[in-house]
Amino acid sequence: MPPSEAVPGAGGLSSLGTGFTPSMLTASYYPEQGWGAVAIVPRGPLQLDPATMALHYGQAVFDGVRAFRQVDGSWALFRAESYAERLRQSCDRMAIPPLAVDQMVALWRSFVAHETASGELDEDSFYLRPLIFGCDPVFGDRPSTCYQLVVLGVRLPAVRRPPLRVLVTDRFVRAAPGGVGAAKVPGNYGAGMLARKVAQDNGCDQVLWLDAGRRRWVEELGSMNVMFVLSGVVVTPPVTDTILAGVTRDSLLSIARHEGIECEERPIALEEITAAVGWKGLDEAFACSTAAQVVSIASLQVADRRLELPPETPVADRLHRLLAEVEQGRRSAPGGWLTRVQLPD
Ligand SMILES: Cc1ncc(COP(=O)(O)O)c(C=O)c1O
Repeated sequence: MPPSEAVPGAGGLSSLGTGFTPSMLTASYYPEQGWGAVAIVPRGPLQLDPATMALHYGQAVFDGVRAFRQVDGSWALFRAESYAERLRQSCDRMAIPPLAVDQMVALWRSFVAHETASGELDEDSFYLRPLIFGCDPVFGDRPSTCYQLVVLGVRLPAVRRPPLRVLVTDRFVRAAPGGVGAAKVPGNYGAGMLARKVAQDNGCDQVLWLDAGRRRWVEELGSMNVMFVLSGVVVTPPVTDTILAGVTRDSLLSIARHEGIECEERPIALEEITAAVGWKGLDEAFACSTAAQVVSIASLQVADRRLELPPETPVADRLHRLLAEVEQGRRSAPGGWLTRVQLPD
């Protein structure tokens, strides 16, 4: 494996980078035993048969959850149960035997405790990436019988990312009804790479996907949900089976409503947005995800038109700040949002 610094493009605007924490958690599933053999070991290459079925047929799921240092110096996972439940649902969709939500959360807690125990983690937050994949070494289009779980950690400082330039594509689609758009599966991202490259070639950072049928309804970005502020109202598409139900999206809606900001979850036609840019009804637009938190959108490229969006983003700024306060335990969170991590004695 090349050293982290040698990975081209690592650490870019859309990347989580390669600031891995020192260890990884592994577990295995065998039909007779179920999930077991949990271990936390130094991070390093996995030994895989080249016929490992996930590499060929894509039977794999992952997720991304974050741990934050709290004001009192302790660590907590943010909305761990929501992420574990989404991972369980992704497993169901991909015919992978899931771990129970409380089992998964317990593994994440022990991993965070392990990685933070030495006190060497300078950052105030790190990202956990659980990945589960079918590992039968077999060519065949049928579910694997054995699976492996790997949990990696990536150091992630809580900094605000620069505004995004977004390409709206009607040439490619990300997800179709009945497909896997609502699951967090590697194939969704692989299928989006060409659109992502086209975006880069056009001076953009991200793709905004439209619905597969009419290519009219706004869905989400490649790895973030999208929100618009239209005449003071936060508007975002409803979650369907073609959109990933972002936990950050849900947290922001909940925080915004608690703050008295009006929010609507409803279908948004692309022409509603382009028209609103014209008559100034679009106050701001932003994207949200666990890794990026809240990122303003600077421009939308629609066919050969580049629509510049308002540079001031007070709603996004405020929601970003409030979310950070909740994550760090500086503002009260709804019950169950913070899962404290007990350090080993
Ligand atoms: C396709 C997609 N949509 C939305 C999101 C945002 O989800 P979350 O806020 O749970 O990270 C992500 C990131 O995980 C994603 O990959």
